[in-house]
Amino acid sequence: MDVFEAIIKRRSVRSFSQEPISQELLTKLIDAARVGPSGANRQPLEYVVVTEADLCQQVFDCLKWAAYTTPRGTPAPGFTPTAYVAVCVNTELYLEGIYKYDVGAAIQTMLLLGVASGLGSTWLKSINVPKLSEIMGIPEGVELDSIVAFGQPAEEPILVDLEPGQEGLEVIKYWRDDDDQQFVPKRHISHILHWQKYGA
Ligand SMILES: Cc1cc2nc3c(=O)[nH]c(=O)nc-3n(C[C@H](O)[C@H](O)[C@H](O)COP(=O)(O)O)c2cc1C
Repeated sequence: MDVFEAIIKRRSVRSFSQEPISQELLTKLIDAARVGPSGANRQPLEYVVVTEADLCQQVFDCLKWAAYTTPRGTPAPGFTPTAYVAVCVNTELYLEGIYKYDVGAAIQTMLLLGVASGLGSTWLKSINVPKLSEIMGIPEGVELDSIVAFGQPAEEPILVDLEPGQEGLEVIKYWRDDDDQQFVPKRHISHILHWQKYGA
């Protein structure tokens, strides 16, 4: 799969079959993030990977899924993620205002490599940071930013290209139909691409 294919194929997946992900593949995801772009090359990001069933359940209990469709979109029992990557920031290394870009680049790198390796994933920010930090033993001087949930995908959300003219805060809401199929609208390219001058 080439990079563009992985980009188009990637969707947030919220239902997973339960085959475990190998430690080798999880290490490869972190290794890919490790060599990504970093503001001033400070490289403040550090990662905690959770795979043990009991810990996974504790992490799961600290996450909120799919705000537009809740409670639908929360992984059902037996279809929960099999691995979590906690993306953390070492505050001795970070540059205020800059490190968040590192987080974005690192997570997208992991998501795309995950797709290319057959994994499904969701990036989560609606998370209970104090509780998760306690569960994972994150020390002073290190801050939890995001959780990325991984697993073998048990659903295939569908990308919907919005039409020109379809704009606004209602049309961008993802939804689930009666068969629990997830649809994810994306803004039309004519609304976001401006050649030479904005709106010309
Ligand atoms: C910064 C950020 C925070 C997110 N937080 C959550 C979250 O807490 N829970 C969740 O279920 N999805 C979360 N998502 C996933 C988005 O809902 C998802 O990316 C968006 O609906 C587009 O769908 P797609 O990823 O399938 O293209 C987050 C995504 C980003 C980039």
